Amino acid sequence: METVKLNNGVTCPVIGLGTFMLAPKDAQNSVREALKMGYSLVDTANAYVNERAVGRGIKESGHKREEVFISTKLWPSEYENENAVNETLERLGVDYVDLLYIHQPAGNWLAGYRQLEKAYKEGKAKSIGISNFEGEYIDELREKWEIVPQFIQVEAHPYFTQKELRKTLDKYDIKLMSWYPLGHGDKSLMKEPIFVKLGEKYGKTPAQIILRWHTQMGFVVIPGSKNVAHIKDNLDILDFTPTDDEMNEIATLDKEKRYYHRTDAQLKQFAAWRPEFEKV
Ligand SMILES: NC(=O)c1ccc[n+]([C@@H]2O[C@H](COP(=O)([O-])OP(=O)(O)OC[C@H]3O[C@@H](n4cnc5c(N)ncnc54)[C@H](OP(=O)(O)O)[C@@H]3O)[C@@H](O)[C@H]2O)c1
Repeated sequence: METVKLNNGVTCPVIGLGTFMLAPKDAQNSVREALKMGYSLVDTANAYVNERAVGRGIKESGHKREEVFISTKLWPSEYENENAVNETLERLGVDYVDLLYIHQPAGNWLAGYRQLEKAYKEGKAKSIGISNFEGEYIDELREKWEIVPQFIQVEAHPYFTQKELRKTLDKYDIKLMSWYPLGHGDKSLMKEPIFVKLGEKYGKTPAQIILRWHTQMGFVVIPGSKNVAHIKDNLDILDFTPTDDEMNEIATLDKEKRYYHRTDAQLKQFAAWRPEFEKV
């Protein structure tokens, strides 16, 4: 598996499995099957309410702890809970995670970021990240961080390539992990003629071309799936390389089009909601 080197020297696989909206049983199955077929990065979150299931999937895969790069996220309800990191580790069944994010710039997010920094210093998080901290939020955080984060996780795909944000990321060598890399499964994105054409040329599906585009952009990509055939396809993207001309043609699709539009009212709702964590 290809890896990227983070600004603290840690390495991270370029392809992983996302588990947003996967019910515990599906998350457990997808994680187990993905790891068995060669994945080594899994992304979850407090808010997905499947961390225990992800932990079970990892155990069932037979992999050693250190062979899997585990990424998870603290939800805003946990930012002032001083035991939130320990509780997250307990749910996952591990004593450290490879990457710990704060999930949203909501509530007392600075307290959340301080928890990440503490977890990093204690070795409970090998790297730290911010999720959905675009624009004013990353600008405010960069005045206050003690430890520069290694990752940001944001919406990114060929229709929305985060051009503006990437200027800041380049300055601090912060890696971008793309969410909604396949437009959350958007068929019209996958039917774009350029992806169909390149799929025919390279013997790949349009989804595989899109995922390879992400890694060529330098992004870490975490497509979500509960379909074993898709999970397999999504890993099989590193044996071809789009040419510069092809990358330039894909760049013309950037319409600054987001699938998800977050409002201030939603951020308030995020801060007020606490996930009902799995009991077992
Ligand atoms: N930080 C955040 O706020 C945030 C927000 C959203 C997502 N995320 C993370 O990012 C990950 C990816 O986002 P996402 O899962 O929402 O969207 P996505 O990866 O863009 O798309 C997932 C959808 O695409 C389908 N799919 C997957 N592989 C495919 C393939 N090879 N061919 C055709 N269809 C395919 C899946 O269906 P099947 O199950 O049928 O394969 C699923 O419906 C999440 O799982 C989560 O870990 C983070």
